[in-house]
Amino acid sequence: MRHRLSISVNPWRYLAGIVLSGCLMAGAVLAEPLRASGVLMPEPSGPVISRYLFGQFSEHLGRGIYEGIWVGPDSRVPNVRGIRSDVVGALKAIHVPVVRWPGGCFADEYNWRDGIGPRAKRPARKNNWWAGSPETNAFGTHEYFDFVEQIGADAYVSMNVGASTPTEMRHWIEYMTSDGEDALAQERRRNGRDKPWPVKFIGIGNEYWGCGGKMTPQQYGRDFMRFTAFYHPQPGQAATRVAVGAKNGLTEWTDAVMGEALENMDALSLHYYTSPTGNVDVTKPATGFDAQDWADTFVQTLKMEDYITAHSRVMDTHDPQKRVALFIDEWGTWYTVEPGTDPGHLYQQNSLRDALVAAVNFDIFIRHADRVRMANIAQTVNVLQSLILTRGPQMVLTPTYYAYQMYMPFQEATVLPLRLAAPEIKVGTTWMPSLSGAAARATNGDYLVALSNLSPQEAVEMRLDLRDLRVQTLSAQILTAEAMDAHNDFGRADTVKPHPFDGARLEDGYLVLTQPAKSLIVLTLK
Ligand code: AHR
Repeated sequence: MRHRLSISVNPWRYLAGIVLSGCLMAGAVLAEPLRASGVLMPEPSGPVISRYLFGQFSEHLGRGIYEGIWVGPDSRVPNVRGIRSDVVGALKAIHVPVVRWPGGCFADEYNWRDGIGPRAKRPARKNNWWAGSPETNAFGTHEYFDFVEQIGADAYVSMNVGASTPTEMRHWIEYMTSDGEDALAQERRRNGRDKPWPVKFIGIGNEYWGCGGKMTPQQYGRDFMRFTAFYHPQPGQAATRVAVGAKNGLTEWTDAVMGEALENMDALSLHYYTSPTGNVDVTKPATGFDAQDWADTFVQTLKMEDYITAHSRVMDTHDPQKRVALFIDEWGTWYTVEPGTDPGHLYQQNSLRDALVAAVNFDIFIRHADRVRMANIAQTVNVLQSLILTRGPQMVLTPTYYAYQMYMPFQEATVLPLRLAAPEIKVGTTWMPSLSGAAARATNGDYLVALSNLSPQEAVEMRLDLRDLRVQTLSAQILTAEAMDAHNDFGRADTVKPHPFDGARLEDGYLVLTQPAKSLIVLTLK
């Protein structure tokens, strides 16, 4: 016998139940679909799902910025002031709310002065963290803000703390935000930008336990207080100050940093990457994997929920009012690089599996939306779990891009309690849940339900009780494919993309559908 896993959105009101069910045999190809049920209620609703949960992280790494976003004004790739128009169009279309920049580890060595002034005069540097590649500094502060303005996103600028000083940080912030007559504001104007830029989020360092300086949490807590003491926001323009948080389940870091620095912090970060092996240093390919790798990837990615729960618990002891947000400002899949590419450039393909990994993580973030108020996938273009791949003038939207597109209506929606009961399945030697989901009330009043069938083989027959909602109509989109590793590539860009799904119906107040194996469905109910 095996337990059924019950998933509950809004779990602080509706505790997950455990229901007994029959056992599914190891790796068996079942003709019979899995059976699942659930209930969705309009009350109690809340909290609001911050649109920043669908944020991006774009670092100077491999072809992420150069080629991926920046091609330069003289490029044959259509661009506006050097920023490629196809990528801007794609990111604008999914309402990217925020872009964290310039790193990552790159930020930990970045000298902002290298990236301002006439481009021809900017110094060439070596990108020490990422294969020692040449860094031209052609993309600097002005180009970053041009980019976020073109896509309509807010700015999240990561400060160099580990290898810099509070004075350098202060100067960069004043350069960006001062509207006075001071020398830094005047310098910005001479460099072509009259008005200050709104800097909504500032990261006070990055991975201080690793590439950011190999410090203890106590050292970081003190440094955080010292650096933030010299942050002087423009009146009414205070940025959210993001402290460096832990990686994975390192709650001792959270506890110590909050103990030292609670007073000045508005958010604390958490980084967690998914590898099928559980280790990003010895990982596996992005495509050509088997069902065992599929299952292992989901088991690993589901640890995000445990880590968020553990860190939130520690945060609650310091901050029971939940004033300080948890920002998952680096997350995503980390596989071996594509053959023939530089291992230091972290270029990997992106398959249907990644779209479902994204959906599972969105569901987790939504379940914790009371504390988790930002998440930034690593990374937007050509690096790790990208939304976009580019090759010269060509651009491909990945399955992960489409997961973002399908979840767009969840931005600023209100969480609704969704209880799901579905069997666990055994794939290879691994037990895993067959279903993930989330529900919300969109800002326009529509009800939204997202369901991911994680089984690589079996369909799920779902019966969802919606009687309390009194909905009349539904529409749905599905993302699926024949192969687990189906992906979009140059020359066949449309292999995996959403399609209308007409297999769902309303029956006496129930939503009834058969969800194909390895698929994401997002339903809109009115
Ligand atoms: O996203 C790649 C790297 O992963 C980032 O630079 C760093 O912060 C993390 O370890």
